Amino acid sequence: MGNLRSIEWAAFRDLSPEEKTPYLGDNGRIFHTLYAQQFSRAQLDNLGRLATRIRGIAKSKEGMLFLKSLLTHKRAMLYFTQPSTRTFLSFCAATEILGMPHGEVRDRATSSELKGESAEDSVRTFSSYFDLIIMRSELGGLAERMAWVLSNADRPVPVVNAGSGKDQHPTQALLDVYTLQRSFERRGGIDGKHIVFVGDLLRGRTVRSLACLLSNYEDVELTFVAPPSLQMAREILDQLDAHGVSFRLTDELLSLLPEADAVYMTRVQDEWDEVSGESAAIDVSRYSLGRGELDRLKQDAIIMHPLPRRNEIAIEVDADPRAMYWRQMRNGMWIRTALIATVFGCEGEIEAYDAGTMV
Ligand code: CP
Repeated sequence: MGNLRSIEWAAFRDLSPEEKTPYLGDNGRIFHTLYAQQFSRAQLDNLGRLATRIRGIAKSKEGMLFLKSLLTHKRAMLYFTQPSTRTFLSFCAATEILGMPHGEVRDRATSSELKGESAEDSVRTFSSYFDLIIMRSELGGLAERMAWVLSNADRPVPVVNAGSGKDQHPTQALLDVYTLQRSFERRGGIDGKHIVFVGDLLRGRTVRSLACLLSNYEDVELTFVAPPSLQMAREILDQLDAHGVSFRLTDELLSLLPEADAVYMTRVQDEWDEVSGESAAIDVSRYSLGRGELDRLKQDAIIMHPLPRRNEIAIEVDADPRAMYWRQMRNGMWIRTALIATVFGCEGEIEAYDAGTMV
């Protein structure tokens, strides 16, 4: 149930993400998944290995039937009140792979929140029927509040943050790290790699979460390329500083491309505009990749994007072997399956099955 029963909400809320981490587990096991900062290098390695095991097992019908037998006794609730395609569907697929039935609310207007019920009462209601709550909200911090509420309720249920406000998208960062692990498997792993982030870095929660996860790796170099008004927030840069991560800020992309091991593109997040049309006034044409830019990239560099995209990556780039974003998206299904399996303690059974089938 996590250790959140042992701390008042206001005291917990005011801690830094690192200070909150000990409250999110249950006897050393991941219980709530709320922030990128809660993950250690060992956990990232374990999740990546488990995801690869699961994808191997799932190649056969017999393996798929085994995976489906693991969590038939558990149910998941997908509470997504902010639009999503791939996070929602990959979590649906992940729960199906593990045999977990799931329910969903995708619009407050179809729930009793329309009658004035609070989000807290709604989530407590879900916890009466489900064993895992996966939630996306436009409200920053809502997932952590719900985790605290549920840990302090009669029936504690783990919460997975599937995107909260502009602040965090930890499971996207897990799939991004998994994609980097696989891409650099034969090149010494993620340590020592130069990752270039491009676009709306101020409001992109995926880059905020991934930048924090990358501080688990040795000698990584991060470069943040954005128009000055969309540059990475000071708060994240301070966290990188605190972990001794080397980073640069610039508004110039072209000259950096030859140095990059991975280029992580993002779209303008104009849904967060405080004044209608404010993003439209920012010239982002220099923060895009087309055929011309590809010539500057190393042959073994990779191009990532959390998707959805607009025109920051030209369609013609999709055919380039360095374009990783479609595989990155599928990796999301495997790492989310691994995360759910870990929350419910299925790693041992999966390892044993894998070892047995390899004899
Ligand atoms: N990357 C991502 O979160 O995509 P969706 O908004 O489609 O879930």
